Amino acid sequence: MSQKEFVKPVDLENPYRLFNLGGTVFLEVKEGDDIDVMPASWACPADYTKMSVVVDSTHYSRKILNKAEYFLLTVPGYGIRKELLYLGSVSKNGNPNKIQDSGLKFFNIEGCDFPLPEGCAAWALIKRIPEAHMEKSYDMFVGEIVKAWADSRVFSDNHWHLEKGPEELRSLHYVAGGHFYEIGKSVEVTL
Ligand SMILES: Cc1cc2nc3c(=O)[nH]c(=O)nc-3n(C[C@H](O)[C@H](O)[C@H](O)COP(=O)(O)O)c2cc1C
Repeated sequence: MSQKEFVKPVDLENPYRLFNLGGTVFLEVKEGDDIDVMPASWACPADYTKMSVVVDSTHYSRKILNKAEYFLLTVPGYGIRKELLYLGSVSKNGNPNKIQDSGLKFFNIEGCDFPLPEGCAAWALIKRIPEAHMEKSYDMFVGEIVKAWADSRVFSDNHWHLEKGPEELRSLHYVAGGHFYEIGKSVEVTL
C-alpha cells in the first residue's frame, strides 16, 4: 500500500506542532541576583556557533533578556520533566519564588557566572547579538555560543550517545500541553 493512503490534511490552527520535534531547551537569564528559567521549544541552531530562541514579550525572562549581554541555553533531561513543566507553566511575573518552588537545583562551574541547572545534558553560555527588528517584530533572539559544557555520559568527542547514558539525561521533545516525547533509539545510516 502506498503511503498516500494514510496522508490527511492538517488544520492550520497549530501547524507548528508538526515541526515541534526538536529538543526542548531551558533559557536561563540573570540580572544581578535575579535569575529566571523557562523552557523553550522554539529554539534552534542558526549556524555552526549561533542559536536562536523565540521568547514571548509577556514573559518575565524576556524583561531580563531585552537588556542581557549573555544568556544560557541548556538541554534538560527526562529526569527533570516535572520541574520543566512547572517552569513552563508558572511565570516569575506572578510568582517571585518560581525557581525555588520548581525544585530545580543548580551548581556553579568555573568560568561561568550563570549557575547551571542540574539534570541537563548540556549547557551553553551565549552572547546575545542585539537585533532590534527581529526581537521586536518576531520575539526572536540570536546569540553566539561562547562557552559550552556537556555531561560526558551522554556527549563526548563531539558526539551524542544518549542511548548509552542514564535515561534521566535523555532529551525531551515538546508538542503541547503536557505532551512530550523522550528521544528514542540511535540509528546509523550509511550510503
Ligand atoms: C515545554 C514548553 C516549551 C515552551 N516553549 C516556549 C517557547 O519556545 N517560547 C516562549 O515564549 N514560551 C515557551 N513556553 C512558555 C514559557 O516557558 C512559560 O510561559 C514560562 O512560564 C515563562 O516564564 P517567565 O514568565 O518566568 O519567563 C514553553 C512552555 C513549555 C511547557
